[in-house]
Amino acid sequence: MNLEVVILAAGQGTRMKSKLPKVLHPLAGKPLLSHVVSNAKKLGAQAIHVVVGHGAEQVKNAVGDFTVNWVVQEQQLGTGHAVAQAMPLLSKDSIALVLYGDVPLTSVETLKGLLHKVDEQSMALLTVNLANPTGYGRIIRDTQGQVQAIIEEKDATVEQRKIREGNTGILAVPSRKLQEWLPRLSTNNAQGEYYLTDTIAIAVAEGMPINAVVAHTEEEVQGVNSRQQLALLERWYQLQKANELMAQGVSLADPARLDIRGQVSVAQDIFIDANVLLEGNVSIGEGVCIGPNVVIKNSVVGEGVTILANSVIESAEIEAGCQVGPFARLRPGTHLAQGAKIGNFVEIKKAYIGVGSKVSHLSYVGDAELGKEVNIGAGTITCNYDGANKFKTEISDGVFVGSNTALVAPIKVGENATIGAGSTLSRDVEPNTLVVARAITRVIKDWQRPTKKK
Ligand code: UD1
Ligand code: CA
Repeated sequence: MNLEVVILAAGQGTRMKSKLPKVLHPLAGKPLLSHVVSNAKKLGAQAIHVVVGHGAEQVKNAVGDFTVNWVVQEQQLGTGHAVAQAMPLLSKDSIALVLYGDVPLTSVETLKGLLHKVDEQSMALLTVNLANPTGYGRIIRDTQGQVQAIIEEKDATVEQRKIREGNTGILAVPSRKLQEWLPRLSTNNAQGEYYLTDTIAIAVAEGMPINAVVAHTEEEVQGVNSRQQLALLERWYQLQKANELMAQGVSLADPARLDIRGQVSVAQDIFIDANVLLEGNVSIGEGVCIGPNVVIKNSVVGEGVTILANSVIESAEIEAGCQVGPFARLRPGTHLAQGAKIGNFVEIKKAYIGVGSKVSHLSYVGDAELGKEVNIGAGTITCNYDGANKFKTEISDGVFVGSNTALVAPIKVGENATIGAGSTLSRDVEPNTLVVARAITRVIKDWQRPTKKK
């Protein structure tokens, strides 16, 4: 049977104390709702319907996904009412899987396991055993262990509240049945809401088997209601990611002090020191060593590269054997060829640094192309911008640029040229020449400094 996913995301999230709709709060750098949508996509659903209400426009724009159907629930009258809003869009002969926009970390394996337990004649329910079930609907089973009903905490008796098996809210059910049952829900309960959970008792009354699947961990079905819960889930998620990396041969100075906000692919024998942040798509080659407080975003780091403390790297390609940092900043469009070295307080932007070339201290190299074995002295600046347009600096193989040189682009420096320290160059340099463009030194002997007038 075809699968259709309904994601409930209309609630306000009062306890977040935020102007931002709850489902847009980020976990691992991505809105909660985006985690749920991307999981739903991995299930091969024929359609995904997202029920939005509070901040509907903001949610749609932020998630920006045109492959899902957005359904607006004007008033939040309960989970049963929310699902009902999506029903006109569902085909009768599909299975509907209900997920929640604020339950971000359910594993695809768990959801697939749940979907194995549903068909035209039965319903599947994801439950969880909880150390502290406060706030959850309780699963009521009969003496044979068959699920009979879900009772919301506010409607439960003292005895029922002792039950540790909680309702995750996630369930899978034939759409045809939901279409029959939802109009039969009432608001005759403690919260005056249409409870989706009441469909369980209706199913049982009709003799439909309820297959309960128990989640592996509490965290994977944990909803986010407060910033504290969000922080706890973030740490849990990050620990899973750290464990995955270690299983692949990465050593971490402290698994609790690595943050991954995206996709990271790694080779073996990598060392990552404390407080490293990896964002977007990052690929790290064998033997790479990453120092403390390093940020790497959307970059490729080749084999044997060393990145020293406090470097910030974005949209860069770093070939094998390079050394970067400490305190280096590689901005988008940086490409370091094999064995290049970028030292402290150096900023590189949209530049190719050739094989074995070095920019060791305090320089800005932007819109530039450097050949092999170029040496850029401390304090060198490529003056790439005239206030309106950007211009390119081209430096050929073997060039030596003395310290504190300003290269006013557009400019080309020929092979093996040498530039004297302190030069300001605004025209091309011939190969194999020495150019010194600095003021001539004047020496005045026995110079008397001015004295203060009385
Ligand atoms: C719900 C379940 C409860 C379960 C718990 C797990 C019901 C009646 N209760 O309770 O059994 O243990 O989740 O966390 O289903 N929503 C809408 N529109 C609405 C109401 C809710 O979109 O009109 C969305 C909310 O944004 C939220 C989700 O549905 O993402 C759950 O709603 P919430 O009010 O938090 O339900 P709980 O009381 O937690
Ligand atoms: Ca909730």
